[in-house]
Amino acid sequence: MILGSTNLYLFSMFCLASLTSQVSLPSSNYYIGAVVEYHPIIEGPNSTAIAEENSENFIKFLKTANEHQVDIIVFPENGLFSGEPFPPIFHRSFYLPHSTYLPDHKEFKVLCRDVSSNVMEVVKSISCAAKQYAMYIVLNVHEKEKCLGDNCAEDGYNLYNTNIVFDRNGALIAKYRKWNLFAEVGFNKTPKPELSSFRTDFGVTFGQFICFDIFFGAPALELVREKNITDIIFSTHWFSHLPYLTANQIQAGWSYVNDVNFLGSGYNAPATGNTGTGIYAGKYGHLARIWNEKAANALIVAKIPKVLNGQRMQPINQNDTQIIYYSATEIPSVRRQILMSQQKLFSEDLSLFTSKLFRPINGALSSIVCHHDFCCNFTTDTLYHDDVNKGSNVKYYRYRYAVFNGTVSYPKLGIAGLEICSIISCLDDNPKSCNQRFDINANIVHPVTFNSIVLSSISRDSINIPHFPLSIDDQINPLNVNDFTFIRKKINETHVSLNYTLTKPYNNLMTFAIFGRNFVNDYFL
Ligand SMILES: *[C@@H]1O[C@H](CO)[C@@H](O)[C@H](O)[C@H]1NC(C)=O
Ligand SMILES: *[C@@H]1O[C@H](CO)[C@@H](O)[C@H](O)[C@H]1NC(C)=O
Ligand SMILES: *[C@@H]1O[C@H](CO)[C@@H](O)[C@H](O)[C@H]1NC(C)=O
Ligand SMILES: *[C@@H]1O[C@H](CO)[C@@H](O)[C@H](O)[C@H]1NC(C)=O
Ligand SMILES: *[C@@H]1O[C@H](CO)[C@@H](O)[C@H](O)[C@H]1NC(C)=O
Ligand SMILES: *[C@@H]1O[C@H](CO)[C@@H](O)[C@H](O)[C@H]1NC(C)=O
Ligand SMILES: *[C@@H]1O[C@H](CO)[C@@H](O)[C@H](O)[C@H]1NC(C)=O
Repeated sequence: MILGSTNLYLFSMFCLASLTSQVSLPSSNYYIGAVVEYHPIIEGPNSTAIAEENSENFIKFLKTANEHQVDIIVFPENGLFSGEPFPPIFHRSFYLPHSTYLPDHKEFKVLCRDVSSNVMEVVKSISCAAKQYAMYIVLNVHEKEKCLGDNCAEDGYNLYNTNIVFDRNGALIAKYRKWNLFAEVGFNKTPKPELSSFRTDFGVTFGQFICFDIFFGAPALELVREKNITDIIFSTHWFSHLPYLTANQIQAGWSYVNDVNFLGSGYNAPATGNTGTGIYAGKYGHLARIWNEKAANALIVAKIPKVLNGQRMQPINQNDTQIIYYSATEIPSVRRQILMSQQKLFSEDLSLFTSKLFRPINGALSSIVCHHDFCCNFTTDTLYHDDVNKGSNVKYYRYRYAVFNGTVSYPKLGIAGLEICSIISCLDDNPKSCNQRFDINANIVHPVTFNSIVLSSISRDSINIPHFPLSIDDQINPLNVNDFTFIRKKINETHVSLNYTLTKPYNNLMTFAIFGRNFVNDYFL
């Protein structure tokens, strides 16, 4: 009898525990995810000391996340170790003393207060926080590993840009070493790209990659194609480029085309063109995204619908999303704002593109523009308020059709195959001005309203030529998924048709583009 009632007592304790528990269950339709946009501390006596200061700030994000019952949180690339002293020093000898050893993640070792391992204290402290808050934490670190043999550097180490994942006990459960380095001189690559994924106790399997990886097939697209990953972790230190590759634009486009949940966490340094963080739910739309013209620290928390058999288990609801900004006293990394009204963006070199001025009218227009046998068919319906641009001191965007089929070269990085159909905004009638924007404080008027746009084309059917709908308005917001359709359809053995249609009126378009990558024509260092 006594035994029986004890069992009953334990049973009800267990029920109570799970009722009041803050973790998402395998049976729930959603989980709570969080991404951090972080403005790091980059100055200090050495990178170990810098990382310790940054980790104190990370603990503040974790405290807030814990109050919001977050299951998994993602920190940005270079957020902890910050990557750059000022001025930057790109030498292994600078990074090596301040990089961490890591055990094999297959050991599932809890690093918190683990005296037997030579892991850096700062990494152990984040493991302790994962345990304290019972939260999955994704952290980007500089990792070192002793090596031997022909492929080993003279100093006897491999040095990696690595994402690590702690589970709710603080155990190291996954590790991903960045494959597509972005001119990160002195860092090493694994012999092959790693497809890193991990399963959580709330029933979701995540895949992860870092920053420039999003531009390539391996490992990013392979995670979706070969491992059926539905939820992606993306840590980034992104340098936004106009008109096609601003941070939220590529994150939203990648999430949409692959129809995956996408947790993108961005490094914040607007003076060097770095911002852009968001949580996107593929074809269901954007849960939340942020773009900061000035230095800032912010956390996004969202209820993310789980994907089962290709279907999301509940609709997205922006009411279940929160964006929390921290003041400079709460997180003191924004020590001084550099005097500038908006962040500095990079510009894509459009000099090799075929472009043609778009002459706005009231009504429909059709045009076909080709570059190296690749033709785009543009059909637009516009309203043209030519009276609004008469005032003095007003600025307004002009538009051009811009088409490209070939390779572009990125200094110090390599050569990328691109296939692009687009309508892009320009500062004036000169095509050289189509990769810039007006100062956001200028008096900008909008004489052209696009009621609809149809962009169509034919391309080769190949897994090595994926296409992304990459569009933004002049606030650098990716277009709402309900405002366009994008269809890539096989038409015969060898070719696909592309059709990208704007279905809602916009008077502030910046870029409307089908952005194709041709991996076959890539040459990267
Ligand atoms: C980094 O700098 C701090 C503060 O000056 C010092 O105490 C520490 O020993 C240094 N660490 C390393 C690994 O050089
Ligand atoms: C991915 O899904 C496809 C189609 O449902 C299935 O055939 C394949 O076995 C799955 N692969 C993995 C690694 O789960
Ligand atoms: C979101 O909140 C607003 C204001 O409280 C409410 O009117 C709306 O119905 C909510 N939307 C959903 C989808 O719950
Ligand atoms: C793009 O150009 C290459 C040669 O430069 C050509 O082989 C290919 O067919 C073109 N693509 C399309 C879709 O026409
Ligand atoms: C271009 O697209 C429009 C509709 O979007 C279609 O009516 C027209 O036939 C197309 N032209 C060519 C040459 O494909
Ligand atoms: C497929 O269609 C494209 C575009 O119309 C054409 O150039 C190509 O020859 C066709 N291929 C086959 C195998 O019919
Ligand atoms: C593209 O799709 C739109 C909307 O579905 C359709 O109206 C249009 O005819 C299509 N155009 C082409 C050229 O396929």
